[in-house]
Amino acid sequence: MAVEWSGSPPDTFLQLDRQRPETLGSQLQNALRTAVREGRLRTGERLPSSRRLAVDLGVSRGLVQATYEQLVAEGYLSAVGGSSTRVAFRPQATAVTPPERLPAARMEIDFVPGRPDLNSFPARDWLWACGEASRTAAAREMGYGDPRGSVRLREVIASYLQRVRGAVAGADDVVICGGFTQGVSLTLAALRAAGATSVAVEDPGHLDLPVLVRRAGLNPVFIPVDDGGLVVDDLAGTDATAVIVTPAHQTPTGVVLTPERRRALLEWAAQANGVVIEDDYDSEFRYDKQAVGSLQGLAAERVVSVGSVSKSLAPALRLGWVLAPRHLSDRIAEDKHRGDRGSPTLDQLALARLMESGRFDRHLRRMRGVYAGRRGELVEAIGRHAPHLELTGLAAGFHAVALLSEGTDEAAVVDAAAQRSVGLQGLGRYRSVNSAGPPGIVFGFGAVNRDAIRRGIAAVADLLR
Ligand SMILES: Cc1ncc(COP(=O)(O)O)c(C=O)c1O
Repeated sequence: MAVEWSGSPPDTFLQLDRQRPETLGSQLQNALRTAVREGRLRTGERLPSSRRLAVDLGVSRGLVQATYEQLVAEGYLSAVGGSSTRVAFRPQATAVTPPERLPAARMEIDFVPGRPDLNSFPARDWLWACGEASRTAAAREMGYGDPRGSVRLREVIASYLQRVRGAVAGADDVVICGGFTQGVSLTLAALRAAGATSVAVEDPGHLDLPVLVRRAGLNPVFIPVDDGGLVVDDLAGTDATAVIVTPAHQTPTGVVLTPERRRALLEWAAQANGVVIEDDYDSEFRYDKQAVGSLQGLAAERVVSVGSVSKSLAPALRLGWVLAPRHLSDRIAEDKHRGDRGSPTLDQLALARLMESGRFDRHLRRMRGVYAGRRGELVEAIGRHAPHLELTGLAAGFHAVALLSEGTDEAAVVDAAAQRSVGLQGLGRYRSVNSAGPPGIVFGFGAVNRDAIRRGIAAVADLLR
């Protein structure tokens, strides 16, 4: 869609060269044609008035008018009611390299995992918090600020993590970053700088991690996950000196790391002089009992805990934190500062206000009710329509895994559901190339309302019959 500039549209890069033998009129025509063809001027976009463009380019207004008329005649531009001239031409698709990931087709009911209910974003509270942040920010806070992030937000996050996650945290141990993704990337870079070469990841696990590990110049080592979470014993015998885990609610299987394995993991870290990176991504949402506490609370010198508000509020905020031992957090803060000079301070201050005011907790309480209801609906619908599916994982977060009967072609189920406009993701997607396991579907229910859950499961059950 073309941008509708209010007032004069911004300058477009049009260069005229008075040394060239080609006339100025011809140069201007060609420059405009190229700008339209290359998409620098988009279909529907308003061009500057002939008067303004003439002044900007140092040519006569008549020359610009004649150029516009010529391009209107050629179909590049259109003159709308004599008042403004707009781009009329829609460039034909040319042979370009296809994008790596094509956007997924829009599904009527999409069980995409990991997505919170974006319609429930507390916009009114956020607006209030942004207003408070802008009104009360001191002049010095409008500069680049502390490389670790706003002190106010770090204090609030540290106290939140202590209170809710049983973490050991002071404001100086926290670095504010752009979500988990940036937090884990910064941590990996710090480990690499400290001499690490390989980092273990869960298999099946969060899809982006092997890519992020490789991008940090490290080698991913895939460690299997079973009903008790990461098979910690398998870390021995690898050259990994760090491991990324989801102990409170494994992605994607939904299991919790057993107490024995939690202990074993910390013992491994102590013996291997290793680091555990805890992805604490959705622990706000446990529906049957309190979420297990953060691993970081048991071994603050060995565990880096990374969290964000992508599940609790919205991914669009791009705000998260890294809670790390000092030898890593100094490096992480320095890299964050060098990389982007810090996350937006006003947003950090707004998040601090939202959390301090109790509005964040109120939102979480409300959403726990919403998501628990949706999970209940999923469990009930599967029980009613597809009782042969085995639902695994905790009553937590916003995804659940349904295991398909042995021998079912998972990809065929996903394709058949897509034909009915029901979006599913197979469990196999989350596995490394060399691993295998039972077929299954990862049902994300965070962004699907109860009625849609019922209809979606009925459709899936129907195609499985
Ligand atoms: C396992 C896991 N961890 C963390 C995140 C959050 O990432 P971010 O904070 O960068 O949005 C996600 C998002 O989908 C996830 O699936």
